[in-house]
Amino acid sequence: MEAEMMARIVPDLTGVPETLLWPLRSRAGMSVLEREFFDDPMAVELYNRIDYDFARFGPVTQWAAIRAKYSDALINTYLNRFPEAQVVALGEGIETQFWRVDNGRVRWLCVELPETITLRRQLLPESNRLTELPLSATDPTLGDHIDPSRGLFVTAAGLFMYLTEEDVRELLMRIGEARDGQETEVFFDAMSPRLSRKSLKGWTLENGYVAPRMPFGATRRGVRKLAKSVPGLLVEATPLYVSAYPERSRLFSVLGKVPFLGDYPPTLVHARFPAVEW
Ligand SMILES: C[S@@+](CC[C@H](N)C(=O)[O-])C[C@H]1O[C@@H](n2cnc3c(N)ncnc32)[C@H](O)[C@@H]1O
Repeated sequence: MEAEMMARIVPDLTGVPETLLWPLRSRAGMSVLEREFFDDPMAVELYNRIDYDFARFGPVTQWAAIRAKYSDALINTYLNRFPEAQVVALGEGIETQFWRVDNGRVRWLCVELPETITLRRQLLPESNRLTELPLSATDPTLGDHIDPSRGLFVTAAGLFMYLTEEDVRELLMRIGEARDGQETEVFFDAMSPRLSRKSLKGWTLENGYVAPRMPFGATRRGVRKLAKSVPGLLVEATPLYVSAYPERSRLFSVLGKVPFLGDYPPTLVHARFPAVEW
């Protein structure tokens, strides 16, 4: 009701930052259409406050809600062990994950491009445990803002596909260095190489939206190979989006087991840097 009375905001975004509206459509849409699976009333409120033609992204899909649900569960589990951990959310867009998983003690660092931080400040409430840092996730000074002393969880949902493989590797290495030997968990997702290649040629959605270039794509095997080149990083799980909740996409999850087809859908990645015994 209050939200309805507030002025609607026209987002001043293009290119990669504009893509933050795409997963919001999924989280808000699923919260209305399938609340028993994913429930985020704040995402619905945001969606209604934004003056934008969301239909450009085509029909509501479940994928970003699946990603959010999966990473919420990882963060909740981590916070059970390290309740005052710092969660570093890279390329967070206008995700409302902080409010979904907030245990009253977590410290949250959102690392985003300046134009996205401007939009977040127009739309999202403040918290003394939430810091918004206008900085590229690939900036070499990222580690200066990380405080692993009470635990560290890094999440990068829907970001790495817009970077290069070298940027991703260096970013993960920086996290490995900045964690200062503390047990650290990482969540990210990877576009398949096929979709990445498609985006480089111009991936047009059914309603005409052209997705930005996604230079980085990796199969599950590719993710494991990448992780091997990052000192200390261990891959815990790489479920495909379609098999993270198999009851939702039974046919896809079976097809995902076929080696060739299993390389096509995007992957969710749970990885960790184990604690270093000094
Ligand atoms: C597809 S959106 C994902 C947003 C959010 N994680 C979600 O799931 O709703 C990609 C986001 O990455 C951000 N982004 C792109 N390149 C970035 C960079 N180098 N550093 C930080 N954020 C970046 C964009 O501003 C955008 O918000």
